[in-house]
Amino acid sequence: MKKVKTQFVCSSCGAVSPKWIGKCTTCEAWNTYAEEKILPKQEKHRSWLLQDANPVMSEPILMSNIARLDVQRLVTYDREFNRVTGGGLVPGSITLIGGNPGIGKSTLLLQIAMGWKGKVLYISGEESAEQIKLRADRLGGNQQEIFIMAETNLEIILQETQKLGPSLVIVDSIQTVFSSMQDSIPGSISQVRECTTMWQRFAKETNIPVIIIGHINKEGAIAGPKVLEHIVDTVLQFEGDRHHVFRLLRTLKNRFGSTDELGIYEMQQNGLNVVNNPSKLLLNPSEKPLSGNAVGATLEGLRPLMIEIQALVSTAVYGTPQRSTTGFDLRRLHMLLAVLEKRCGLFFGQSDVFLNIAGGIKVTDPAIDMAVLTALISSQEEIPVPASSCFAGEVGLSGEIRSVNRLEQRILEAERLGFDEIFISKYHRQKIDFKPQKIKIKHIGNIHELYEKAFV
Ligand code: TYD
Ligand code: MG
Repeated sequence: MKKVKTQFVCSSCGAVSPKWIGKCTTCEAWNTYAEEKILPKQEKHRSWLLQDANPVMSEPILMSNIARLDVQRLVTYDREFNRVTGGGLVPGSITLIGGNPGIGKSTLLLQIAMGWKGKVLYISGEESAEQIKLRADRLGGNQQEIFIMAETNLEIILQETQKLGPSLVIVDSIQTVFSSMQDSIPGSISQVRECTTMWQRFAKETNIPVIIIGHINKEGAIAGPKVLEHIVDTVLQFEGDRHHVFRLLRTLKNRFGSTDELGIYEMQQNGLNVVNNPSKLLLNPSEKPLSGNAVGATLEGLRPLMIEIQALVSTAVYGTPQRSTTGFDLRRLHMLLAVLEKRCGLFFGQSDVFLNIAGGIKVTDPAIDMAVLTALISSQEEIPVPASSCFAGEVGLSGEIRSVNRLEQRILEAERLGFDEIFISKYHRQKIDFKPQKIKIKHIGNIHELYEKAFV
């Protein structure tokens, strides 16, 4: 009997090894190698050889002679979705939406399907048609032109899709679909890659936009190799904390628009609703200033957001003090604590430090540093920050406050929400080219000045 040849493929980066290894030598991930059969080699494509090449196809064209293609975008009913895709779906494009289980990917796409003008095919490998119907009833919406297909075999799906001729295809999820041309199990790297490539070809040939749902692995990447992200045109990430109502839809890659966009939703009883004034929802309604709280003016993509930071510094009960954060980088907290010790003489060595960013949002914008620092000082010293102050500045290792980008936008948002004062860096070089109406701008150079000016 002929021996079946196999190879091992890394599930995070797609690297191949002839034998199993514990740690990937390419991406350094542990335990990611899975066995897959080697398929017989296909005929090599030799079109790059001169005698085979099509002379019309391969002629270089002067860029200024290329006709401008005006893409007619397919606008969905969902304002936020249009925003993150750069103004609606492009015909023949393929969009990948990643997110943790239970975050609301299926809900989002079902809502988009129900608001779509035209025939939609919703392919579900995860839920039965009845389950989807139940959810659609709960969400309320137009079910007239939605076709559900609970099938996982790619060849059957493609055949049926061609027969039906929808104007939008939704695949929920790519990890459940499998092609019988491949031997490996559904969800394996080669299956996910093969199926995505087939969908891409389908989208390009038929000009029908395809939206694919992809699961996320422990590390937060879309499960499957990075190559998946290269195949598709747009990669969106749906994120948020399951225990909070907020959901953020981010653009990670977009061949037809900017990647700075962000959609903000709220998960409610009747599905996902767009949020008109996110900052207002993220702020604590209490009027009385509390120690340990400070508001940071951050930017998520291009959208300004005012976010409340809460710090709690308390005496450590056990030997080793604890440091814990939600929504903020723990290493950055360590750094800020070290800066406070060294430059300000505030010691946290015997204290537990907890840091929380309201609303279950993760913030990576360095402009939040100053608010975090203020919250830490406020909790340590038991002095509150006025509820009408907010902060936008990065903290450097020598305790200096550095300037941040798009300051005007942050100041405008702070003013819109009725803050009286915003603290920014003294070293902001560009002139702020607008006159704030009411808000006072305070320029701060270092931690000492912050300590003197920011508190009640
Ligand atoms: P779902 O779309 O199934 O998530 P995913 O496809 O990303 O796994 O959404 C699951 C969660 O959303 C579920 O825990 C319940 C909640 N939910 C609501 O709160 N309101 C609703 O109207 C719907 C449909 C779901
Ligand atoms: Mg789902």
